[in-house]
Amino acid sequence: MAKPLKILVVCGTRPEAIKLFPVIAALKADARFDARVCVSAQHRGMLDQVLQIAGIVPDHDLDLMRPDQTLDALTAALLTEIGKAIDLEKPDRVMVQGDTATAMCGALAAYYRKLPVDHVEAGLRSGNIHHPWPEEVNRKIIGAIASLHFAPTQTAAEALLRENTDPARVHVTGNTVIDALHWVTARIAAEPELAAGLAEIEARFAGKRIIGVTSHRRENFGGGLEAIADAVRRIAARPDVAIVFPVHPNPNVRRVMDRALAGLDNVALIEPLDYPHFARLLTIAEIMLTDSGGVQEEAPALGKPVLVMRETTERPEGVASGTAKLVGTHADTIVTEIFTLLDDNAAYEAMSRAHNPFGDGHAAARIVELLGNEIGTQA
Ligand code: UD1
Ligand code: UDP
Repeated sequence: MAKPLKILVVCGTRPEAIKLFPVIAALKADARFDARVCVSAQHRGMLDQVLQIAGIVPDHDLDLMRPDQTLDALTAALLTEIGKAIDLEKPDRVMVQGDTATAMCGALAAYYRKLPVDHVEAGLRSGNIHHPWPEEVNRKIIGAIASLHFAPTQTAAEALLRENTDPARVHVTGNTVIDALHWVTARIAAEPELAAGLAEIEARFAGKRIIGVTSHRRENFGGGLEAIADAVRRIAARPDVAIVFPVHPNPNVRRVMDRALAGLDNVALIEPLDYPHFARLLTIAEIMLTDSGGVQEEAPALGKPVLVMRETTERPEGVASGTAKLVGTHADTIVTEIFTLLDDNAAYEAMSRAHNPFGDGHAAARIVELLGNEIGTQA
């Protein structure tokens, strides 16, 4: 049998690990491939939560997270250290996901070694290099480098074609986040104790209408986050509502949320949840309020109205399907939109029909089959 195709999968943050674990599992289950995993650990605790539940033991752990890291220091360290891991591993190909600093530097380090790059979740574009920042530029750099572009949707594929990407290298696979969501839902069904840690909060807020909140975007630091905190405080003043808010550990987020929201009766400011517990939050929440990319994809799959605290989105499919709505970062707008969903049944019903614009749960299998076509094509 031919030598297996050696693929180095590079990731570093929570969402990359969530969206890549189905692909890593599928590659490892297929004898045609020799899959190795390099984590930059751009995130530490939040990455480890995913590695643990998904049972991934990295072959390389670069342990690069530093408190309140700047983009330039992070980028410099990532490029150098991922490059060293590639030199040690000598893969045939390098796989990255999404648009983080780790993904961009992983692609660039591979390119500097003339290795083909496979891009999972290719083609997302907001059309604005400042929203989301710096992700829009990261993914354009990866798009310029990649050999195979695994676009989650037709819209994403079309964005790549508009940039003159070779159509033969662009494939619509669905987003692997839906594979991950199906996997974790099945795990929780088999072992409910995996998501039982929210029981205390569920008991504390029994009878209240739960709103799940997450926020971490760098472009919202400062005024944007202050406005989000103000909106959450005003929403939580309603006696029928409870806010469950797993707070991103970035000190720029923590500082604002702690100051504005700590100790409020109807607000649970909690540590980041592991994936099964976050899936549970998605289930018990009536509405999600978020600036996250991944949550915009998961909420529609579960039929949860999701209000997106951004000015633009690179995921227009959720808005088109009616489950997601852009509300920006103005406190008055956020409060008004949440109150409309709470008080107007028709508005809520219209947003709460489950759709799957982001995939059918078989994206990883498609990606592996497409990679299989590359066997024997290496120099
Ligand atoms: C990063 C990605 C962003 C992605 C997000 C997902 C970049 C530039 N940003 O943003 O695209 O949407 O992850 O969450 O790649 N921290 C911890 N523990 C952790 C993780 C982070 O303490 O497990 C703190 C550290 O102080 C760290 C800071 O958060 O310096 C920022 O982390 P970083 O990865 O640079 O940026 P994020 O805002 O998380
Ligand atoms: N998530 C999680 N625990 C949390 C918050 C989010 O497991 O406390 C998951 C969520 O289900 C989604 C992903 O993390 O799959 C989104 O990550 P994040 O919002 O940090 O990044 P983004 O998607 O915006 O890049």
